Amino acid sequence: MVKTCRKFLTGNGKKNKMESNIKNIKVGIASDHGGFDLKMQLTSLLKEAGYIPTDFGAHELVTGDDYPDYILPMARAIAKDEILRGIAICGSGVGASVAANKIQGIRAALITESFSAHQGVEDDNMNVMCLGGRVTGTSLAWELVQIFLNADFKGDERFKRRLEKVSDAEISQKAN
Ligand code: RB5
Repeated sequence: MVKTCRKFLTGNGKKNKMESNIKNIKVGIASDHGGFDLKMQLTSLLKEAGYIPTDFGAHELVTGDDYPDYILPMARAIAKDEILRGIAICGSGVGASVAANKIQGIRAALITESFSAHQGVEDDNMNVMCLGGRVTGTSLAWELVQIFLNADFKGDERFKRRLEKVSDAEISQKAN
């Protein structure tokens, strides 16, 4: 239990075998209608770049669909180690972030600029990057995705200590 809750502790700042070839990273992508166009564009760009993204839907544009229906299955897949990182998109990126962070072991954040795209991984082991399909254009979003996927958790003691406190809060809340 504790082992699965503290998966972030495995990061040590060195590229492990899985990450030595960045294109081998299992990437998931999910969106509601607000992020649908951006999801389609990013999926194509990921494939062109050599990734094999898992698309958790929406698989067609349905106006009025609900972001938890797509974001939560992707987040659960990450929590189960079926994929390593996820890209969660809704109109603003806020709902996607709120939903993803409800799943234990998910560290999701709304990203709009490059510094947080890599520092969020390096310091906080962010495993889901959230984007706003009505906020961030395709070119910038693609740059942010590449920065996110190429970043590694540094694994410094202070970063692990902080994440352990976050993980402990998840565990203690579940116990109550
Ligand atoms: C859908 O209209 C919109 O509310 C949703 O995509 C997202 O922006 C929520 O945060």
